[in-house]
Amino acid sequence: MTPNEANAEPAKKLGITSWLKLKLLGKDKETSLVNTQFLNELSSHKTIGRYDIMEKLGQGSMGVVYLGMDPYIKRNVAIKVSRPYVDHQDTEAKNYRTRFFTEAQSAGRLSHPNIVAIYDAGMHQNFYYLAMEYINGSTLKNFCAKENLLPVSKVVEIMFAACRAIDYAHSRGVVHRDIKPSNMMLTESGDTKITDFGIAHVHTDISYTKGLIGSPCYMSPEQIQEKAVDDKSDIFSLGCVLYELLIGEKAFPGDNHFAIMYKISHSDPVPVLEIRPKIPPILDKIIRKALAKDTSVRYQTCMDFAYDLRVALRGLTDTVKKSKAEDIVDYVHQVSFFDNFTRDQVKNILKSSNLIKVLKGKVLVSEGEIDDSFYIILSGKAVVRKNDKNIAVISRGECFGEMAYLAGDARAATVLAGTDCVLMKISATLLERSSESVQLLFLKRFAMTLLSRLAQKK
Ligand SMILES: Nc1ncnc2c1ncn2[C@@H]1O[C@H](COP(=O)(O)OP(=O)(O)OP(=O)(O)O)[C@@H](O)[C@H]1O
Ligand SMILES: [Mg+2]
Repeated sequence: MTPNEANAEPAKKLGITSWLKLKLLGKDKETSLVNTQFLNELSSHKTIGRYDIMEKLGQGSMGVVYLGMDPYIKRNVAIKVSRPYVDHQDTEAKNYRTRFFTEAQSAGRLSHPNIVAIYDAGMHQNFYYLAMEYINGSTLKNFCAKENLLPVSKVVEIMFAACRAIDYAHSRGVVHRDIKPSNMMLTESGDTKITDFGIAHVHTDISYTKGLIGSPCYMSPEQIQEKAVDDKSDIFSLGCVLYELLIGEKAFPGDNHFAIMYKISHSDPVPVLEIRPKIPPILDKIIRKALAKDTSVRYQTCMDFAYDLRVALRGLTDTVKKSKAEDIVDYVHQVSFFDNFTRDQVKNILKSSNLIKVLKGKVLVSEGEIDDSFYIILSGKAVVRKNDKNIAVISRGECFGEMAYLAGDARAATVLAGTDCVLMKISATLLERSSESVQLLFLKRFAMTLLSRLAQKK
């Protein structure tokens, strides 16, 4: 479909508010709130908060990023400065202030090797600033051009790390909402770092009042239609980034915001295999699933997405053979079941257990069956059924099948996958071979599970 065709019937398909803002207010082209007055005022500042300003690192639609130096800790920091309104006294600006600090607080609580750490937030005169981990590297935007694409295995490795980081944020209730190549950085040593967690959220809200800021290229259909967004929206955006890193073209290209938004809502991207036939077909499948417009067809969790990327990585012959096992250990260690386990203990358990992926609807254990394995849900949801009645829904971090192990009896209930799930299957024989301390940790966890189930019954 051409952009002109896309323009033909706008209001019926897009949210009416978006359409009005984009078209009637003439906001269908890229908007920047970084005005020249703001830049001039900033250029006279040698310090912001307690930080010395060294040089400008870049500029986005909401502000400017500087390389700064913390004079007390003597470390480099990246300082992001924004000033959304010239009149900083009005109600909208006060709302912005509240939102800015609330989001800075939630982003500041995230601590993950693949997430840019937030050190500090504050106001300097009428500017807002965030001091964060300085990344000596470049954003993924540099690797989206056809002549500068990364090897396929590196792309998959980056996306795997990104899924892992975003899964961690989701498990702590933080949705990014602005996943795009310029918010994903590659360090000098090749590690992935996601930036602008939560803060983008504040900017997105401003987009609705001041016109769209930045590009909508990576927004999910539900974001465009101004519906409530959740983890699955970030999954869609990750799918757009994966697509672009593989072929050097946007999944939903267009001459203006309106054409892009229309495509995201109504058309499928050109299949990657048509543009780069040598790409392993599994990646085409993965992209389709991440970019499904229907959220119930899309990956339900980033963990699920990461699992498939890991399968794809195994099949890539040019894989940088840095052991992915290490990534998996960290991944599993994040699951709440393993809160009291050390990383080494998780590593040992992983060596002799199986990670399995099951599709929605599959029966995982059956009432009456005799088997000594138990399962920990790493992603997705499972339904517990007894006498043909659903009695509970259990999710990430919870276990099932442990009663048969503890009581040495047949399965007391049936459990089936309520969504696609990634599970860790552990056999009792393995557990009996583990050290006493590990066995104790498992028993403690089982006891806590039983107690919480009893409390729920009451
Ligand atoms: N933590 C950081 N360390 C080093 N450089 C950074 C860091 N964060 C951002 N940058 C640089 O600053 C630039 C501007 O970042 P900013 O988040 O303001 O805008 P953007 O993400 O590129 O675009 P937009 O505002 O449309 O989201 C980035 O492209 C990057 O080059
Ligand atoms: Mg950014």
